[in-house]
Amino acid sequence: MEDFIRRMPKSELHLHIEGTLEPGLRDRLAARNGVTLPSRPAYDFHDLTSFLVGYYEGMSVLVHEPDFYELAYAYFEKAAAQGVVYAEIFFDPQGHTSRGIPFGTVIRGLRRAQLDARRVLGLHSQLIMCFLRDFQAEYAMATLLESLPYKDWIVGVGLDSDERGNPPSKFAAVFARARQEGYLLTMHCDVDQQDAVQHIRQAVMDIGVDRVDHGVNILEDSELVAEVKRRGIGLTLCPVSNRFVTDGTKSAELRRLLDEGVRVTVNSDDPAYFTAYVLENLVTVQQELDLTRDELVTLQRNAIEASWAPPAVRQEVL
Ligand code: HPA
Ligand code: ZN
Repeated sequence: MEDFIRRMPKSELHLHIEGTLEPGLRDRLAARNGVTLPSRPAYDFHDLTSFLVGYYEGMSVLVHEPDFYELAYAYFEKAAAQGVVYAEIFFDPQGHTSRGIPFGTVIRGLRRAQLDARRVLGLHSQLIMCFLRDFQAEYAMATLLESLPYKDWIVGVGLDSDERGNPPSKFAAVFARARQEGYLLTMHCDVDQQDAVQHIRQAVMDIGVDRVDHGVNILEDSELVAEVKRRGIGLTLCPVSNRFVTDGTKSAELRRLLDEGVRVTVNSDDPAYFTAYVLENLVTVQQELDLTRDELVTLQRNAIEASWAPPAVRQEVL
């Protein structure tokens, strides 16, 4: 089965590029840029909040345009070796602009890696810009405006970071403006957060997102399940990530969503921190749920259908 999963052409829709920073590259960049990291291990955590501490510390080694290039290109090489043919990658500009790194430095490095990955590895990708929900909505709006000169390089916007006390509704105006500017919309509704179902409801019903990242708690509200089915909204699940920030992979929930016909997909989230790329995530759920080949193919078809790939790319990777 592992061989089948490896050979199956795969798409990944929930991947934070800063979460692909492996310890080796982090330490090399830290040395090159003269950044001192805290001595305690940044890859040691037990919930979303403690994970995020290490995640932001880690990204402080990213300073110059080639750093962002190397980060992204290393991910693309790894993904291509696992059979990923299409990836939508999140980036967190405010994780960098808040440290004085210009927006352009970040996106130009990522873009150059995307073009090289396309040319050298045959891997297609698109960028999704995430706002950090624990910052003010005004900063998100300013970031949205800052992105507009690079609009052609960004397919959509998302919302990540610490969800506690930061509901989707806080960013309603920002997402409305993003929609007006032509961006597609997604948002994290992290697993087992406080008010998880209300957050999913706000994202789907009030903001009108095109996709939901995680969103497993939707199972607590059958009306919402019916609504995302009706609209064909994809849910980007991240099984191994769940094991680190909640109490397990939530594969039973994945099984229920799959059986209900919800467009669920399997993704890696922050693979350098959770030590599992998309292949290992798929192998994990295959083993836990004894998924058949047909079910694995359904997951991949879901990913293509829930993706924001342009028609030409869709045809090529289907
Ligand atoms: N949830 C919230 N914020 C994040 C995540 C996540 O899974 N990964 C990186 N930032
Ligand atoms: Zn995520």
